[in-house]
Amino acid sequence: MITLGIETSCDETSCAVLENGFRIRSNVISSSLLRHRPFGGVVPEIASRHCLEQIDFVFRAALRKARVTRKDLDLISVTYGPGLAGSLLVGLSFAKALAYELKIPFVGVNHLEAHLSANFIGRPVPEGPFIGLIVSGGHTELTCHRKGSIEVLGSTVDDAVGECYDKVAKLLGFGYPGGPILDRLAQKGNSKAFRFTRPKQSGRFDFSFSGIKTAVLHLVKENVGVRSPRPLHRRFLLNLSASFQETVVRWLVEKSIDACRMKKAKDLVAGGGVSANSRLRALLTEEAALYKINVHFPPLSLVLDNGAMIARRGFEQFKQGRRSGWNLSARPGLRIGE
Ligand code: KG4
Ligand code: ZN
Repeated sequence: MITLGIETSCDETSCAVLENGFRIRSNVISSSLLRHRPFGGVVPEIASRHCLEQIDFVFRAALRKARVTRKDLDLISVTYGPGLAGSLLVGLSFAKALAYELKIPFVGVNHLEAHLSANFIGRPVPEGPFIGLIVSGGHTELTCHRKGSIEVLGSTVDDAVGECYDKVAKLLGFGYPGGPILDRLAQKGNSKAFRFTRPKQSGRFDFSFSGIKTAVLHLVKENVGVRSPRPLHRRFLLNLSASFQETVVRWLVEKSIDACRMKKAKDLVAGGGVSANSRLRALLTEEAALYKINVHFPPLSLVLDNGAMIARRGFEQFKQGRRSGWNLSARPGLRIGE
């Protein structure tokens, strides 16, 4: 069975061809990242325009690389939320038109669920219940997955963890996206140099990242000096990056392990852009081993937004009997498990 996956939820335009849910024949990604850099974040209008300009080209390239024609496609899987309305509409309209032309089914998938499904391409799916940790630029979610149903255990009450990385990097004078930059710098700093207070949360599995961002802002202001501004010292930047990263990663790891223990889950599945983080990968693997929990991370090639993970999620849902209708609309605020 050949599934075409289409992803246009934010600044990437991607199409992938997936064979039988486990073999990626192509995964073509066109990013508008460079166009957003001067603005320090994603500009929705630029993102959706880029998706519109690229979608047909990316689709044709994906077919060519996979050595298939449009007649070989059996299923179309497309992101319908969450994300930017304009970008989502491009992929969804394209998918509907193609499904109509080829007279094949299409399935609208949740982008967040797809980030977790990136783990299951060519790898076994955990047999029992598993905990999902979704850490991206727009979301931070802890979920429990049992026989196809999804329970949300906790979310961020303010910024997403990737967003916090991006904002802190901006405060320190680095470019966008800040996550990979801070990750690299943190490896050279002393993670015990600065201490941050733990935020108070309403729910046991909720997160909050706006407090640590403000704490970093105060530290930067103190160091720059108000009367006579001076550039930030290299050692200060490295130590602050390391301390910030260690704190944030520890919060994520503690809650994820706690959720596994509460739900008696033997597997923990991570996904989303921040699951590329080197410290998160190391600490989560280390801590989970103490409780005999298996940790799953997507391969680095599938961590960021891509069509292959969308194809995989659509394939899973199609096998469970899901089909979407022509009335499916883009859902920018779609929640996981909805
Ligand atoms: O999942 P994603 O590609 O887009 C969304 O769906 O939001 O995630 C992008 C986010 C950005 O905030 C970026 O800074 C962060 O993932 N990111 C990282 C790393 N690589 C990407 N954050 C921390 N460490 C990294 N190595
Ligand atoms: Zn994403």
